[in-house]
Amino acid sequence: SLPVPSVQELARNDSQCVPERYIQEPEDRPLHSVTTEVLNEIPVINLSKLANGDEDERRNLDTACKEWGFFQVIDHGVSDKVLHAMKAAVAEFFELPLVEKKKYSMAANDFQGYGQGYVVSDEQKLDWNDLLFLITAPPKYKNMKHWPTTITGFREAVEKYSTELQKVGDEIFENLSVLMGMERESLKDIHGVMKLGVRMNYYPACARPDLVLGVSPHSDASSLTLLLQDDDITGLQIKNKEIWVPVKPIPNALVVNIGDALEVLSNGAYKSVEHRAVTNQQIPRISVATFFIPEDELEIGPLDSMVDEEHRPRMFKRIKYLDYLRYTLGRKMEGKSHIDILKLQNM
Ligand code: SIN
Ligand code: FE2
Repeated sequence: SLPVPSVQELARNDSQCVPERYIQEPEDRPLHSVTTEVLNEIPVINLSKLANGDEDERRNLDTACKEWGFFQVIDHGVSDKVLHAMKAAVAEFFELPLVEKKKYSMAANDFQGYGQGYVVSDEQKLDWNDLLFLITAPPKYKNMKHWPTTITGFREAVEKYSTELQKVGDEIFENLSVLMGMERESLKDIHGVMKLGVRMNYYPACARPDLVLGVSPHSDASSLTLLLQDDDITGLQIKNKEIWVPVKPIPNALVVNIGDALEVLSNGAYKSVEHRAVTNQQIPRISVATFFIPEDELEIGPLDSMVDEEHRPRMFKRIKYLDYLRYTLGRKMEGKSHIDILKLQNM
């Protein structure tokens, strides 16, 4: 990744300045093709109903993954205390002085640590975002040199949050496994030893939120992503029928989305949907995206139970997950999904 400055620092030094490199082309700006009403259209799924074997709720999950690729989960069993401690830990980290945060910086060839989103060229537009990315599981992938030590309770808060999110993720994977015509545990087993990657985002308030993006449009390469966000600041938008739809946060809910790996495994039944984040003029926004990542060596391709040569032929080639990840990291997404390189021509 090419090094770029901290936007938090830019905004702190001159709250009115928005450098050229952050100003999006007119067609990519936040007010282009966005709904004017704040809708709350993405489905809401009750996790405790799923855990109790409620079949209607399982069908709702199926529809949500097919039609939206995004939903919010409520009644997920993660306590307010754990969610609050996680957000507080992130807020405290970003409040540290720059020199202190820099002790946890990413290396040029790594993703873990403090820095900015992956930058592939000197020409590309930059996102109004600083981040701290940590792998929290399995233990052998944790790199403690990027875990801040000067914030009391940081490590405990992140570990507890990650353990709780693992349970939420497991419940969703188990239900999806059944919906995909397999045993409850099969989908998780297929993934091998899943990695959990936690991306903590900081979006400073911006003098010109109409010109910049917090995170440029992309789909997640992961299998599943669970997002924790502020209760009352809307920033996430998802692309639905060519229109950007803002996701209105439900307090203490988690936003879940299907990633590319699961779209491929499900043979295109479940959609990995393009999304982005916008900024605002008043207050910084924090979000925490937890990625459920397949094992590097896993060959991702449509699962047999999702292929029916007559009605639903195989849509994607097989590829080693790590090779796909490398491909996506090497280029910026420009309208076209990365997943398109895996599409077979028979559709
Ligand atoms: C992302 O999904 O990439 C970021 C979402 C957010 O901050 O709302
Ligand atoms: Fe994302």
